[in-house]
Amino acid sequence: MAREIATLEGERASKADPALVTLSIAEIDEDPHGVFRRYRPLTPFIGHEEGGFIILRAGDVERLPRDPRLRATETEFPEMRGITGGTLLQLFKDGMLTSNGETHRRRRSPFTRTFAAKLMTELRPQIRSTADDLITEWYEEGEVDLVDRYAALIPARTISAILGLPRDDIPHFTRIIYKLSRVLSFLFQPDEIPELEEAACELTAYVEEILDERRRKPREDFLSAFATSAEEAGELTPFEIITQIVALILGGTDTTRVAAAMQVALLLQDRQQWDAVCQDPTLVPGAVSEALRYEPSVGGIGRITLEEIDLDGRVLPAGSFAMLSSMSAMRDERVYARPDAFDIHRTDHPRLHPVFGGGVHRCIGEVLTRIELEEGLAVLAHRIPQLQLAGDPPVLQGHFAIRRIGQMRVAWQK
Ligand code: HEM
Repeated sequence: MAREIATLEGERASKADPALVTLSIAEIDEDPHGVFRRYRPLTPFIGHEEGGFIILRAGDVERLPRDPRLRATETEFPEMRGITGGTLLQLFKDGMLTSNGETHRRRRSPFTRTFAAKLMTELRPQIRSTADDLITEWYEEGEVDLVDRYAALIPARTISAILGLPRDDIPHFTRIIYKLSRVLSFLFQPDEIPELEEAACELTAYVEEILDERRRKPREDFLSAFATSAEEAGELTPFEIITQIVALILGGTDTTRVAAAMQVALLLQDRQQWDAVCQDPTLVPGAVSEALRYEPSVGGIGRITLEEIDLDGRVLPAGSFAMLSSMSAMRDERVYARPDAFDIHRTDHPRLHPVFGGGVHRCIGEVLTRIELEEGLAVLAHRIPQLQLAGDPPVLQGHFAIRRIGQMRVAWQK
């Protein structure tokens, strides 16, 4: 069947497997949903120009993160993209996201309590008032960029409050993060590696300085407790300690910023659904889940195959880079009715939302993210139901890991 796709459609076949269609980054990024929609019924995976395969079907994307025949990517991804040393590579070597087995457990476990559902839920009123304060700050302007002035600041202020980072530092660390987060995706060129390395050095130096300060003058905050207990337990090296904090700041800001803006953009393009949310706040959680499905801020996650893996009769070779595309899975017609319709009333979301991954690496910030997105949307809909897009709606760029957003101008009658 797959051979037929390549030859019948006259498309470029992979050298390694002539039956496999291999697409370039530009071809995929031009219309990722269209590409996935086209190939998903025909083949469980397609080839990627940088090497590796994009896994398309919901069943596989859901199952493979828990399959012991695959592991987290360690340093394969950066090396494949030309990053062969420096602080950037060290962040991959020492991070929880890219590690396996006991090493991963050691790096993740200090955070599971802090990000537990109960503690996060207690933050809800604080997050609601952050959203409310932000709107008060700019309401009189009548028009703003919602990405910069709202969507970015809810997660940035929240993660700063959780970790105990000074609020005045937000512009500094967010500027670095939006640059650095590209390193996890295909959204950078080799000639940009020095700039990314500089961002990695800046962010690690920033975190190191804050940790040193907490060691010298401990406070009643998470970082002081973490710095002390991590050192006492002796389970993490000094750079591992820094790296996990970098991962939290990175994971906790950019992904949610993109999602918080995108959910508003999708609703404003469908006035009936926006009005419904404004009139009935109980629709907010469903709207958040649907926006995360329809236009996710994380397009997929990477794994390495340890042995050959048969997917519907097609074989992923051992040692392959497998990109499990949540973006494709969340439009799979086998799971969702009318998958290409944005419908906040849909009832066919799986119990575990695929946008947060699966298995031992499932997102540590899921509960927090949902609270931030729900409060961000609920407060905005309550305060400015007359909100409108004032320009083109944002289009998310990228098809793997953290996707990118530009500006999103919105306006309202005061
Ligand atoms: C819309 C928002 C978010 C999305 C879509 C998202 C998505 C994901 C996904 C798919 C993974 C699994 C990656 C893999 O298996 O390779 C993950 C892991 C992770 N996320 Fe999130 N995330 C979001 C928000 C957050 C927030 C708010 C935080 C921090 C407070 C966070 C921190 C992390 C960390 C530290 C990991 C690594 C966990 C591990 O490797 O054990 N994320 N996230």
